[in-house]
Amino acid sequence: MSIETITVVGTGTMGNGIAGQAALSGYKVNLYDISEEKLKAALELIDKTYKKGVSKGKVEASAVEAAKGRLMIKSCLEDALKTADLVIEAVPENMGLKTELFATFEKYGGPHLIMASNTSSLSITEIASAVSRPEAVVGMHFFNPVAIMPLVELVRGEYTSDKTLKATRSVAEQMKKECIEVNDSPGFATSRLGIALGNEAMRMFEEGVASAADIDKAMALGYRHPIGPLALTDLVGLDVRLAISEHLYREIGSDTFRPPRILRKMVRAGKLGRKVGRGFYDYS
Ligand SMILES: NC(=O)c1ccc[n+]([C@@H]2O[C@H](COP(=O)([O-])OP(=O)(O)OC[C@H]3O[C@@H](n4cnc5c(N)ncnc54)[C@H](O)[C@@H]3O)[C@@H](O)[C@H]2O)c1
Repeated sequence: MSIETITVVGTGTMGNGIAGQAALSGYKVNLYDISEEKLKAALELIDKTYKKGVSKGKVEASAVEAAKGRLMIKSCLEDALKTADLVIEAVPENMGLKTELFATFEKYGGPHLIMASNTSSLSITEIASAVSRPEAVVGMHFFNPVAIMPLVELVRGEYTSDKTLKATRSVAEQMKKECIEVNDSPGFATSRLGIALGNEAMRMFEEGVASAADIDKAMALGYRHPIGPLALTDLVGLDVRLAISEHLYREIGSDTFRPPRILRKMVRAGKLGRKVGRGFYDYS
């Protein structure tokens, strides 16, 4: 089945990136968020990313103009789903919220609608339990910032069909991403490894092993990571990381995934990372 229109539900950190990249890759894109403010901000953020791409010579100004013409803000979810061939959900990492939305996708979407979740860690099989067509549900895990990061982790739930996987792989590839395919398991391949490293870095920082900058430098220069684990936690959002860590600890049980005390403390204090200007580093 050919996909022409993509609806992105939740236009925060990830949703605006996914929507911007999808429009740039030729898809018609509907954007929906429960918050009008977030919807408005998403268009501004997409525009900012496009401008950066043009100034770096990565994308033509004419391609950006065409992409902008393919982006549609929708303030009604039913309306946003009517014309969609694929919906990509990027709301907060909360199972109740996601299952409720997937039931709505099925209710208002057409009979061929493919339903993808950008979840970092939650079970695709459990999300799919909310609908009567679990074969059309798949994990489509993008990385932050979407315009730059080359990976999409495709997650096959218990009932995901080959057809669904093939269609989402072709969308990801048209968005110039490389795919890996992972069976449904807590944290898939990426978040499971990423949280293990990030949690240990936070515990080391808490113990006073080294400064945040030096812990990050250890991985950046010693192991060729493009960004250190604490800087990455700031980029992803400490609240997002805490939710994933709690989920993995519950599911896998290993102490590796027990959320570090400092992570809880910082989230309570509102130090959520780059999006608020402070986390392990100060961005003000
Ligand atoms: N932040 C990252 O680096 C990252 C990377 C990969 C995957 N993810 C995953 O992507 C998802 C979204 O994460 P994020 O960081 O973009 O979160 P975010 O908090 O930045 O954005 C979530 C958006 O969802 C909206 N929302 C909340 N309830 C809604 C509803 N009922 N209907 C429509 N919109 C609703 C919010 O208004 C907000 O704009 C999560 O599952 C997360 O685990 C995040």
